[in-house]
Amino acid sequence: MTTEDEWTDVGAADELCRRPLQQVLVGGRTRVALSWVGGRFAAVSGVCNHVGGPLGEGRLEGEYIVCPWHYWKFHHRTGAGEPGFEADRVPAHEVKVEAGRVLVSTRPTTTRSKKPHAPHPLARPVERGDGPVRVLGLSTTAMTAGQPRYSTSDDLLDTALAAAGAQGCETRLVRVRDLQFRACEGFYSKGARACTWPCSITQMDPNDQLDQVYEGVVHWADVIVVATPIRWGAPSSLYAKMVERMNCIQNQQTIAGRDLMKNKVVGLIVTGGQDNVQGVVGQMLTFFGELGCQFPQHPFIAHSRGWTAEDMENNQRAVQRSASLKEGAQALAGRCVALSRLLLAGAFEGSPTSRGGRKAHRAERPPPES
Ligand code: FES
Repeated sequence: MTTEDEWTDVGAADELCRRPLQQVLVGGRTRVALSWVGGRFAAVSGVCNHVGGPLGEGRLEGEYIVCPWHYWKFHHRTGAGEPGFEADRVPAHEVKVEAGRVLVSTRPTTTRSKKPHAPHPLARPVERGDGPVRVLGLSTTAMTAGQPRYSTSDDLLDTALAAAGAQGCETRLVRVRDLQFRACEGFYSKGARACTWPCSITQMDPNDQLDQVYEGVVHWADVIVVATPIRWGAPSSLYAKMVERMNCIQNQQTIAGRDLMKNKVVGLIVTGGQDNVQGVVGQMLTFFGELGCQFPQHPFIAHSRGWTAEDMENNQRAVQRSASLKEGAQALAGRCVALSRLLLAGAFEGSPTSRGGRKAHRAERPPPES
């Protein structure tokens, strides 16, 4: 039973009924999702059970509020989860209208209950077991499945992986073009905590295959060699699609102080019939640097014949016949593996690795949930 001093006046009824769903504050700081459905006000906690999304900023779907972050649903009046998930419940608040004012009980009348959810396998701790250096190749060139063609960047990546194998390393190759995965949907733009590890899409969509990249770069690899062609002065579209989805790895440093890429070494292979090697490499180094990766001396190899070279057949032949490019790819693998061995032996143990670079300033962190 709510007593007289436990109500919060949240506004005029004729104003509030203009929006079917909105967030209001009760007791000065508690977020509540106030709904207007079928000529009645109702209120439940404004904090989603998942990772705290603002339910009052979501939308109504029938009787249910849909969380704007990852679309979990809660009954707008009872707070119960959608059918099948009723045990996942957010607290409900009483609502009454007096003298044209909407009053919401400052304290909820039911409690929050969270149904245990098994953590995603990728959420396990990152633990490096014993064994030789592990080198992961990431090919980001695009081509039609079933219609293979020669790729200069793939050729040099294969050469680098073979060289690593010859040094006693374990090697794996992930061709990003073989994976079916969704584009980043901008969860980070909704709120830093909306961008989760593993990626919210990976957690929601069992058919999304970017988990293979996450598993490789976070849990398996010591060395990551990324190969891309240059497309209109930028890395490939597949590279861009992949790294947008990898924002969740960097975001763990921002919101949780968690360094998922400790002691990882990255080397780059960039080839283009035309130009802008330095621009492409620069943005790739920035991205992997922000993930917390380390780079060997001379962290990339590249090939370009310049702006006027439109004879792509000759470009392919030039790479296929180039002994020096092959030697360069082998040497890049060697430098990455040598650095990795130092790191795995503990050379930089104890050195802070995160929050450098642009985070030299104190980062603006998301506000605490309430
Ligand atoms: S669904 Fe609400 S925070 Fe994820």
